[in-house]
Amino acid sequence: MKVTVFGSGYVGLVTGTCLAEVGNEVLCVDIDEQKIAMLKRGKVPIYEPGLDALVQKNIEGKRLNFTTDVTQGVAHGLFQFIAVGTPPDEDGSADLQYVLAVARNIGEHMKDYRIVVNKSTVPVGTADKVRETIRKTLEKQGASLEFDVVSNPEFLKEGAAVEDFMKPDRVIIGTDNPRTTELLRVLYAPFNRNHDRLVAMDIRSAELTKYAANAMLATKISFMNEMANLAEKLGANIEQVRLGIGADPRIGYHFIYPGCGYGGSCFPKDVKALERIAREVDYNAELLNAVETVNNRQKQSLFHKIRHHFEGQLSERTIALWGLAFKPNTDDMREAPSRTLMEALWEAGARIQAYDPVARDEARRIYGNRQELVLCETPEAALQGADALAVVTEWNVFRSLDFEMVKTSLKAPVVFDGRNLYDPALMASQGIIHYSIGRPVMT
Ligand code: UGA
Repeated sequence: MKVTVFGSGYVGLVTGTCLAEVGNEVLCVDIDEQKIAMLKRGKVPIYEPGLDALVQKNIEGKRLNFTTDVTQGVAHGLFQFIAVGTPPDEDGSADLQYVLAVARNIGEHMKDYRIVVNKSTVPVGTADKVRETIRKTLEKQGASLEFDVVSNPEFLKEGAAVEDFMKPDRVIIGTDNPRTTELLRVLYAPFNRNHDRLVAMDIRSAELTKYAANAMLATKISFMNEMANLAEKLGANIEQVRLGIGADPRIGYHFIYPGCGYGGSCFPKDVKALERIAREVDYNAELLNAVETVNNRQKQSLFHKIRHHFEGQLSERTIALWGLAFKPNTDDMREAPSRTLMEALWEAGARIQAYDPVARDEARRIYGNRQELVLCETPEAALQGADALAVVTEWNVFRSLDFEMVKTSLKAPVVFDGRNLYDPALMASQGIIHYSIGRPVMT
């Protein structure tokens, strides 16, 4: 089938590439000429495991093409995917200007029936706006053409996006036209094996499903972080509590890891946007509000522990930081807890020596060459001469700690473990002062 994907960012590129991989003819459209030129040469501008190889393979197979030409894009696909950004406005609501600009383009250039599939995360009611925009644009030109608008939210996780697209746990199709559902069923058939993963519903429910899923996951994390803080005060161990509650299948073990807060481009943005959506319909979403507040507080937790340990004396201190990305297997630092920690430490006069397997360039892009941030090539280099180590991202390379290296490289063996990677008893037995999340400090 012929598919056009507007927006060659994270979602659009993964969607386009995976649809090409199963044999569709995909044309990706983006307004960024530099990005399109890069992609045409098979260079992927984002870090996502497995994506480079897949992009190159499908370009060579002539199933995946890139263009900045909107007219060509609208002419190409029966399916017109919208996967452009919806950055938060100042008030937290999703900015729809890019989505609606694509809708206008589709209305201006379409010559026959099109299925417009929205993949961007958008407020409930956006499909209606997209439909209205296309309808009005067609009307202006005196054209009366048929089209359908579908909400098909994506549930990809950064770092596992290709796998998530190829083996989805569900495909949500929101439409008011059963014929469109059937066409999308055919498009998604290669990903819909073993048992039926396609869940068809009305458009507004599909739009809300996306926010509800992310808000639920964010709630799980904030809930666990709240329990972790409570455990610290009560002298309990949150990791044991986690195992104790996860055993109940109604709760489950997934996504209940306490830590130094959630980050990324999705949870923080989507929780805020849903709060805002609720406000617009006169509903005070108190739980969502609390989820966000708890997370903001949690992102400060390592800083408070560090400040407390050094009795408020942080100027002239150097902190080694392992992990800059908001989670492993990505170079994304949007809303990353590392940023909150670094900025608080700088404010207090400390310096940072940071190591991350892939996000160093991203850190350089965000912070430039500031003196208080040294970006190191190895985890060892980050430790050299530092007063303490803070671990913020659970990259696998950090999991097995070389105790001797920590003891010989740091001025004093102090570790702030923001992801509960290390066993408190083992750390104590090695003579390392170990602060973690929701667990007692052992001596
Ligand atoms: C999230 C969702 O998991 C995807 O399903 C969704 O499609 C995506 O947002 C989106 O809306 O595009 P992502 O932001 O890539 O995906 O990252 P996650 O793996 O969900 O992690 C988010 C944050 O939660 C990370 O900072 C992670 O460290 C934190 N986290 C996760 C915890 O603190 N504890 C946990 O138990 C799990």
